[in-house]
Amino acid sequence: MSAAVPLFTPLKLRNLTLRNRIGVSPMCQYSAVEGMSGDWHLVHLGSRAIGGAGLVMMEATGVTPEGRITPDCSGIWSDAHIEPLKRITGFIAEHGAAPALQLAHAGRKASMAAPWKGGKRLSASEGGWQTVSASAVPFTPDLAPPREMSADDIKKLIDAFVAGARRGVAAGFPILEIHGAHGYLLHQFLSPLSNFRTDDYGGSEENRFRLIREVARAVRAEVPSDTVVGARLSCTDWDEKGLTIKDTARLSALLKEDGLDFIDCSSGFVTADAKVPFAPGFQVPFATEIRETAKLPAFAVGLITEAAQANDIIAKEQADMVLLARAELRDPYWPLHAALELGIAPVDANVPAQYLRGFQENRTAAPRKKAG
Ligand SMILES: Cc1cc2nc3c(=O)[nH]c(=O)nc-3n(C[C@H](O)[C@H](O)[C@H](O)COP(=O)(O)O)c2cc1C
Repeated sequence: MSAAVPLFTPLKLRNLTLRNRIGVSPMCQYSAVEGMSGDWHLVHLGSRAIGGAGLVMMEATGVTPEGRITPDCSGIWSDAHIEPLKRITGFIAEHGAAPALQLAHAGRKASMAAPWKGGKRLSASEGGWQTVSASAVPFTPDLAPPREMSADDIKKLIDAFVAGARRGVAAGFPILEIHGAHGYLLHQFLSPLSNFRTDDYGGSEENRFRLIREVARAVRAEVPSDTVVGARLSCTDWDEKGLTIKDTARLSALLKEDGLDFIDCSSGFVTADAKVPFAPGFQVPFATEIRETAKLPAFAVGLITEAAQANDIIAKEQADMVLLARAELRDPYWPLHAALELGIAPVDANVPAQYLRGFQENRTAAPRKKAG
């Protein structure tokens, strides 16, 4: 028997066992109506479960209507959102992957048009809305400023995350991820580049960390003990005046105390002009730092595209899981192809029975000639 391939070893998070270390990173599909997921989400996410991933994460899903990036983003602000999501989680789980939900609020980055509808800020007449943030400072100077959130707004926001988490569990998600990255609302509170408050939620590190920690504790207290709860963080703002990986490692240790089970390690996007050194696996060192210093499972994401690269990250214990976004858009069967590339036999590679012939038989042979 061949030695286990690290990328295809299971990962245990609480009582949940993921079949391998490959996750589909959350990706906005801009295909929801009034926040309701539909056939697109079922087929898109379902294909990636069939494709062999261990975890399939639903896109940034607004805990309030104003928390959506665009009017076409998915939402979980009402009980009506539960039923269509159930169909999706049921399908994903039936095909061996764990469905995860990213709970999100876009803050000052909300009220935009979908990329293929121009990607610009929407005015009220175009279906847009007043955005909110830690401070009344826009993401870029050309945008109308967000409204600074009051203490009452903050309380309501925490309640909205809690209600979203409760609905996520009801919809069949065993994993919830709190979106604290990419310059969205919770990151806007975390970063000194976007938080200029003078109350308990701004200024010192302790104060800037307060909101995400309150959200984490409140969500943890709401959901069953076997629900896995984590956070995506921008580990650095790529700006000398912004958050650094050291800050994020401290925050991750605190979030562990607050009951979180993993950190999904991304970076950037709280400002528009940061110089990001994009390169293969460039964010992996953040996952390594966090798993080593905060001592909790860390997911690596960003320009992980090759089977050997992904396997190496797990083999060298640089991260506990790899998440893929664009590579999974190009190839929903990326995990199956990676398994074969790494020497795993098709029958052991999570290839669905219905697809086995496509993977077992000589894939270069010419089609068989018809008799006669
Ligand atoms: C189409 C698209 C939509 C995305 N939507 C989200 C999202 O909803 N939430 C999130 O945290 N990141 C989102 N991202 C970022 C990805 O999850 C991922 O972190 C990033 O693309 C880097 O990984 P990659 O190099 O494998 O693409 C999105 C990326 C793409 C390409």
